[in-house]
Formats: sequence, C-alpha cells, structure tokens
Amino acid sequence: MKKMIIAGNWKMNTLPNEAENLVSNIISGIQNKDYKSEIVVCPPFTNLQTVSTLIYNSKIKLGAQNCFYEPKGAFTGEISIPMLKFFDVEYIIIGHSERRTYFSETDELINKKAKAILESGLKPIICIGETLQEREQGKTFEILFNQLDLCLKDLKDKNFSNIVIAYEPVWAIGTGISATTEQIEEAHNEIKHYIGKKFNLNEDDIVLQYGGSVTADNSEEILSIKNVNGALIGGASLKSEIFLKIIDIAENILQS
Ligand code: 13P
Repeated sequence: MKKMIIAGNWKMNTLPNEAENLVSNIISGIQNKDYKSEIVVCPPFTNLQTVSTLIYNSKIKLGAQNCFYEPKGAFTGEISIPMLKFFDVEYIIIGHSERRTYFSETDELINKKAKAILESGLKPIICIGETLQEREQGKTFEILFNQLDLCLKDLKDKNFSNIVIAYEPVWAIGTGISATTEQIEEAHNEIKHYIGKKFNLNEDDIVLQYGGSVTADNSEEILSIKNVNGALIGGASLKSEIFLKIIDIAENILQS
C-alpha cells in the first residue's frame, strides 16, 4: 500500500495557548477514526513539551523543525537530538529552504544532521528543492541530484526505512503557487529513480513528500500522484479544519 505522511510544519508560529488549541482540535478531529496515514505535527521548540503531553496516546506523532548534530556542549542557541528525543520527537525536518536561505545551512551540514538523527533512531525529513531561477535555467534536476548526493552522502540503503525526503520547490513555498501536477509528477519520478539507482532500492520503498502551497483545494490532485507519499504543509497546517480536511483526503486516496 502507498505510504502517506501528512506533516504540519508550523514554522515560527504559535504561542503555547495557540499550540494547545491547534493540536487539541486536531486530536478531536481524528478521534475514533482508523487512519492509515501517518499524521505528524512539527511545532516550534518552545511548544514541544505542551504538544508532546497532549498527543500522548493519540495517533499524532511529533516532529521538530531543526536540530544540531552534536549531542551536547558549548553550542549556544542550539538544540540537540537527545533533547528532542526526551519529548518523544520522532521526526526532524532538516534542510528546509528557509534554513538554507536565512541561516546559510549547507548540504554538508544537513548531511551531518541526517547521520546524527539516524544514529539516534529518529527519522529525518530531508528537504530539497530548486529556486525559480534554477528551474527557469533548466537546472532543476542538476540541483536536486546534487542536493541528494551531498545530503545523503555515506548513508546506507538500510537507513531508508527511516528517511523521508520532501521535495519542496522553493518558489512554491508560502507563495500560494503550488507546482503543477505535471511538475510534481516529473520531479517525484526523477527523484525516486535517482535514489533508487544510487542506493539499490525499490522505488516504492522511498518515502517522498511534496511541500509548497498545499491546501485543502489542491491536495486531492497532489496526493493522488503515484510517487507522492504525503505532504509537508506550512500555512494550511495552522488551521485545524484545513489540516483535518487534507488528512481526510489522504485517507480517501489510501482507501480507494
Ligand atoms: P507552505 O505550505 O506555507 O507553502 O509551506 C510549505 C513548507 O515550507 C513546508 O515545510
């Protein structure tokens, strides 16, 4: 069966009371439903404890938006993987284009984080994606394959049961302009083919989410694409009713 992970990246949003309301509404919305897809919420660090407590015993899994690769030490302002593990974090988003752009994160750094996350038994959601300029210059796949080469350097095929890749075209993030079905289909086919060949994997065993202006309105079309295994959702994950609608759409696709 197609694997589907619907993850909400809350980015730098929500005060504790807002996080509590948001996640409580999501918990109520999925109660008593037998969902086959994985549902993940990624609040800011300051709300991990609140959300972790509320989702205990629910189907919702916890994700973080970043981490550092050293387990502890003099790294002012950073958050380690053991700190995240303490709150039952299972997924950690790394390589998000906002971190690459505003905090100068490189593929080499993302690779170090990926290795540390996997060694700790957690699951990285590794984001890749091209800018509009790169797409217009016809460099999309050169960029994506290079990001994959560097971010996945020295990882092993056996790691892939714990790795999620998220294709997030930079130009589609927060712009309201999602990539077209054809663009997503092409990119996802190419990415799975590239990883499959490189690591000698069955393409169906690679989990590849799409992210970039996913809404309740476009999610049916996007999530129905064969090689799309869920979505990494920013803005639309901050409204419980929209996030719940997208989860329902994912479920209908899985069960059809
Ligand atoms: P939007 O859904 O707001 O476009 O953000 C996507 C994203 O960056 C998820 O990580």
